Amino acid sequence: MTQKVVALVTGANRGLGRQLATELVARGAKVYAAARRPETVDLPGVVPIQLDITDPESIHRAATVADDVTVLVNNAGISTQATLLSGPIEDIRAEMETHYFGTLNVSREFVPVIERNGGGAVLNVLSVLAWLHPPTSGAYSAAKAAAWALTDALRTELAPKGIHVAALHVGYMDTDMVSYIPAEQKTDPAHVAAQAISGLLNGEPEIIADELSRNVKAGLSTANTA
Ligand SMILES: NC(=O)c1ccc[n+]([C@@H]2O[C@H](COP(=O)([O-])OP(=O)(O)OC[C@H]3O[C@@H](n4cnc5c(N)ncnc54)[C@H](OP(=O)(O)O)[C@@H]3O)[C@@H](O)[C@H]2O)c1
Repeated sequence: MTQKVVALVTGANRGLGRQLATELVARGAKVYAAARRPETVDLPGVVPIQLDITDPESIHRAATVADDVTVLVNNAGISTQATLLSGPIEDIRAEMETHYFGTLNVSREFVPVIERNGGGAVLNVLSVLAWLHPPTSGAYSAAKAAAWALTDALRTELAPKGIHVAALHVGYMDTDMVSYIPAEQKTDPAHVAAQAISGLLNGEPEIIADELSRNVKAGLSTANTA
């Protein structure tokens, strides 16, 4: 991208979103740090903005205020750890409402903004679990797989409009979401954010940020032949 980056990052108050916003600021971008509770955004140099990705009115309001955006980072997410057969159906729906419909609704509001501003890019934060579907995280994996399909379809739909769409795949990162996982199994979200923003701005369609994700991706073509 050659023009000045004006980015909006969802879920920018903590975790990976906070690191993605930090990385974008370090590269000279104007950054809207979107959060359900904008008063929890503590990063210097960003513009806090209210945005609940499951609330269409909130998304519309944010797109009206942040009308100079050229880069959208769909990062906000939840992990209920619901299993598909015995987990609460409300949790299974919440995963879809967040990762799939939330990402879709934010994209539907912000793509026209990016288009009006001359084109740009969208980064969707997915997971290795978009490809790997253990029953213990059935609801999360299904929602991330849906968001992966959405990402691929939007990439083709938006290319003629000069909007690049990228996916980030990663395994465990050291954030609140997986505080129960031992530290040695997690990557540093700051390192992931740096890779993600470099890949996005270099026009990569798929940013694979750790070895686990690279191995799982490599195994996809052979997974069903055993
Ligand atoms: N951590 C991992 O191991 C891992 C691995 C692969 C992918 N990911 C993905 O990485 C992304 C970031 O997760 P994280 O690890 O940084 O988790 P996190 O520390 O739990 O942060 C989640 C962020 O998403 C926000 N959020 C959740 N629901 C939202 C909604 N409806 N509207 C707006 N914001 C919402 C949270 O806001 P509040 O503060 O208001 O709750 C918070 O800012 C997610 O998409 C996650 O699925 C994480």
